[in-house]
Parts: sequence; structure tokens; C-alpha cells
Amino acid sequence: MSDIVIISGSPSELSRSEKLLQYIGSTMRKEHYSVTFISIKDIPAEDLVQGNYESPVLQQITQHIQEASGVIVGSPVYKAAYSGVLKALFDLLPQDVLYDTYVLPIMTGGSPSHMLAMDYALKPLVSTMKGLPLKGLYYIDSQLDKHQENPIIDEEILDRTKKQLFYFLEKIGLKKSISNATIR
Ligand SMILES: Cc1cc2nc3c(=O)[nH]c(=O)nc-3n(C[C@H](O)[C@H](O)[C@H](O)COP(=O)(O)O)c2cc1C
Repeated sequence: MSDIVIISGSPSELSRSEKLLQYIGSTMRKEHYSVTFISIKDIPAEDLVQGNYESPVLQQITQHIQEASGVIVGSPVYKAAYSGVLKALFDLLPQDVLYDTYVLPIMTGGSPSHMLAMDYALKPLVSTMKGLPLKGLYYIDSQLDKHQENPIIDEEILDRTKKQLFYFLEKIGLKKSISNATIR
């Protein structure tokens, strides 16, 4: 059982959003939270495409999510919504897999003009799986450098990230501060 499950919905090989989610995960591990990281790329493609509800990998993912105190779901914006592969995963999970679970939604996009994909696409997806979506974080590509250990290169969004992570941990009952020494 993990404190936090992070789901990364980018199919991209050198993914910006996944780098960001990995950084957030490593930050939380440094603060002694247990984190399970699920990348859509680790799920057999045939399970997703053929709708294999019996897939052992999917059953394990379901268990991880159901046992977590909180979940972070991240996706790039693709065509004004979340990625198709993230939806393929959620289509195969039980309808109430996020029941009563706080979820921090995170999206990265090429431009700010699709920021509302968070409110119109990702949050409704979380809600329909019975999760409780928090405000969330939206990053535009110019605020991120995927080649750096901490990919968040914009001070303002870095500050917002710390606040949202703190709020998320408070909501899931695991409040400890994310120290400035850890996330910088
Ligand atoms: C197929 C595709 C569709 C995209 N559609 C949008 C879009 O509609 N709006 C937007 O702001 N950015 C769009 N982008 C840009 C990505 O959202 C952005 O570069 C993101 O950070 C990529 O994350 P990733 O590296 O984790 O896949 C798109 C990129 C791709 C590859």
C-alpha cells in the first residue's frame, strides 16, 4: 500500500509531463512518503487496445489506486483534452476506483489557451470515477525544462506547485511540509 499513487498519461518517449511527475514523486519520497508511479507506457498496449479487463497489470493498478491515500493524475494536453491512452486506461478501471479519494490533476500544454482542458476534461473524468479533484496545476512548456533534475524553471509556478502539494497532503491527511530544501 502506498501513500500516493502517481499516474502518468503521456505516451511520449521523452515526456515533459512525465519528467515533472517523476520529480514530484521523488520530492515526496525524500519526505518519506511512499509513492507508486504508474506510467501508461508500462501497461501492455494490447491490454489497452483490446479492452482486456482481466489483465493482471490492470488489476494490480486498480489495487494500488484503491489502497492509496491520494492520487496524482498527470497528462499532456492532446487536442484540447487529456491523452487518449490515459482515457484508454480509465475506461478499463472500475467506475468507482477513485471513490472518496482526493486527486491532484496535473496537465502540461504547449499553450495557455487549453488550460481549461483541466476543468472540462480531466476533472470530470476524475469525478465520474468518484474521485474528489483538487484545483490542480497547469504548466505551459516554456515553464518546464525536461533536461533538468527539477524541470520547473518558472519561479511562480514552482511556488504554486509547493502550495498545491502541501494542500494535497493536508487533504489526504498526510500533512508535513514539503521543505524548501527538498523542492527547489
Ligand atoms: C498529439 C499532440 C497534440 C497536442 N495538442 C495540444 C493542444 O491541443 N493544446 C496544447 O496546448 N498543446 C498541445 N500539444 C502540446 C503538448 O500538450 C505539450 O507539448 C506537452 O507538454 C507534451 O507533454 P509530453 O511531453 O508529456 O507528451 C499537443 C502535443 C501533441 C504531441
